[in-house]
Amino acid sequence: MTTKVLMVCLGNICRSPTAHGIMETLIEKEGLSADIIVDSAGTGDWHIGKAPDPRTQQAAKRRGYDLSHLRARQVTVADLDDYDWVIAMDRQNRQNLLNMASDANRDRITLLLEHAGQIDAEVPDPYYGGEQGFEQVLDMVETACAALLERIKLQLSLIHISEPTRPLYI
Ligand code: 4NP
Repeated sequence: MTTKVLMVCLGNICRSPTAHGIMETLIEKEGLSADIIVDSAGTGDWHIGKAPDPRTQQAAKRRGYDLSHLRARQVTVADLDDYDWVIAMDRQNRQNLLNMASDANRDRITLLLEHAGQIDAEVPDPYYGGEQGFEQVLDMVETACAALLERIKLQLSLIHISEPTRPLYI
């Protein structure tokens, strides 16, 4: 059984490809590529088919993540059934996803930073800002993806918590 994770932002050229690349790298490092699959998509359609923004690619490359093979696509209603974890970068994109969701898949949608313990916090859109914004995205996404991966591993029972073989009170 593979678990599927979809990272979602607005354009799918800055934040969600960053999360896609970082999560994939973490998964590879832990040898879990057969267990966990990652993709990314945007709620908007302006950049379909495009590679990540050059500023996103350059900032990621400085930290060792190659995003050049990624291409933007738009999230679909079918994605919400298909992916176990649908991870929004900000509240507006979470809302857009919730508007597309059904009762059967609504609870798959969460904010990325929730997994790092920051309820309702957002990964800010760096598109119209300076270079510092792209560094901030990387800092936030690296921390939150590591936390998300721990959560997924727990859910998959890839972490085995040792239990006594018989009750301790006997
Ligand atoms: P992203 O950033 O949602 O992190 O990919 C953006 C990219 C493009 C636009 C907005 C945000 N845009 O308006 O074209």
